[in-house]
Amino acid sequence: MSTHIAAGPGAVAPLVLMPGDPLRARWIAETFLDDAVCYSEVRGMLGYTGTVDGRPVSVQGSGMGAPSMSIYVHELFTSYDVRAIVRVGSCGAISDRLGLRDVVLASATHTDSALNRLTFEGLDFAPAADFDLLRAAVDAAPSHLAGATALVGTVFSSDSFYPTRPELGTRLAEHGALAVEMETSALYTLAARFGRRALAVCTVSDHLLTGAETTALERQESFAAMVGIGLDALLAVD
Ligand code: HPA
Repeated sequence: MSTHIAAGPGAVAPLVLMPGDPLRARWIAETFLDDAVCYSEVRGMLGYTGTVDGRPVSVQGSGMGAPSMSIYVHELFTSYDVRAIVRVGSCGAISDRLGLRDVVLASATHTDSALNRLTFEGLDFAPAADFDLLRAAVDAAPSHLAGATALVGTVFSSDSFYPTRPELGTRLAEHGALAVEMETSALYTLAARFGRRALAVCTVSDHLLTGAETTALERQESFAAMVGIGLDALLAVD
């Protein structure tokens, strides 16, 4: 048991997939895991453990934004000895190199979150992906993408879904950032703090330059590709 996850000792696998939406966690568990068992329903943030090719894997919802992600990741690392987490989520593209349903493998993040500023007292920490997970995801991507493209690059982990200063996202895009989302910086920072592996695999659900958005069906299908990439990467590094 930890404060926000009601799992017993050994109930969470060392390898964890993390979607933001807890109902996606249930869908992933039912679709991709064998013998999945729900280990936590606290606050509706569902967590499941099952197996993939006979190897234990968990799926845990993270919620939206850095504070929510930080709570679940912190408890997974400190109370359950999780070794590797792959976030599987959506992002908004800010690069014309990306189209809807393309996949971003987040090599590192920029953030406007106060979490790192408070922790590092003004020093600019660079939250970055685990290289072995990233390389494994790059290798796995072509067999899952079904015509979409995967790009490796930086994402902007913003605390604002509805930003008051969108020009800051534009400036980051001018410095090569591929997409905006809200959780990866917190994940990478905590992985660095606890010496664990982490990666974010994000599908483009909307395009901030064109205003284009995916349909619900497109989101479902592209989510499956992303989960396949994430599972392959997790199983490759273990
Ligand atoms: N902003 C932040 N997070 C997101 C977006 C966005 O435009 N799209 C999907 N996740």
